[in-house]
Amino acid sequence: MIVTSYNSKKLAKKVARRLNVPFIGIKQQSFPDGEMHLQYNKHSLAKHVIIIESFQPDPNETLLRLCLMAKGARQHGAKKITLVAPYLGFMRQDKVFRTGDVQSNVVMGQMLSSFIDKIITIDPHLHRVRSLKEVFACKTTCLSANDTLARYIKRKFKRPVIIGPDWESYQWAEDIAGQIGCDSTVLEKTRYSGRKVSSKLLKPVDLRGKDCIIVDDIISTGHTMLEAMKKARGARSVHAIGVHGLFVEDALKKMSKFDSVLCTNTIEHENSKINVSELIAQCFL
Ligand code: R5P
Repeated sequence: MIVTSYNSKKLAKKVARRLNVPFIGIKQQSFPDGEMHLQYNKHSLAKHVIIIESFQPDPNETLLRLCLMAKGARQHGAKKITLVAPYLGFMRQDKVFRTGDVQSNVVMGQMLSSFIDKIITIDPHLHRVRSLKEVFACKTTCLSANDTLARYIKRKFKRPVIIGPDWESYQWAEDIAGQIGCDSTVLEKTRYSGRKVSSKLLKPVDLRGKDCIIVDDIISTGHTMLEAMKKARGARSVHAIGVHGLFVEDALKKMSKFDSVLCTNTIEHENSKINVSELIAQCFL
């Protein structure tokens, strides 16, 4: 069994260390005409290859690279290929929202399913689509970072209250609050565009003197978190925690009023301080 990666090297190396299996690198270059060229740094690979690769940065290029990496692993001896995509991209385009939209989640699923035997991912964006089985033809495992986040919040904050910034987030807000033994509430969010949202507090919760932790699956432009922050008046501190920190369009700069902004290391970033390598490694023990 080997582990390989391009986007998620640090995380993949951590998982390889936990599993005590080799990490094999892959080099990406371009031919003069711009086509992608990939090369494993070993000429024969193990029977079971685990590719650990998040869809950030460069999600479009990553999808192509993953197809080539998986096919290449088979060309070099792998009989079984497991893709661990800690952050799985293309999952938010999960219906035809506007006339002529391409529903890309199923296209991504079909492409990868023809090259891999199994996909493992963490907190994928399952909203309108309820299961990975609707997206992939291969075997699927869906992990949750809730326990990891709950342990982290319990360790770091004295008087936490958990807020989910939209109704879908009740799944993790309630679970995490239950594990910690603190209050939680969720907001109702209306999205007007990729960059404009508003939110309403339906069930108020006492935030006086508390550490308000807003927890979401994805922090992308940061607007969802910033809207939710407006509902956290009275708290002694306000923190944003996301499973997947994409931080596009200067999100971190815009979020500078938060006392802290943290994510798991499903995407490599300076704010990715919460480690999910154990969660991933456990799937292979
Ligand atoms: C959407 O439903 C997700 O759960 C996140 O709330 C969303 O992707 C965050 O995006 P942004 O940071 O751009 O508001």
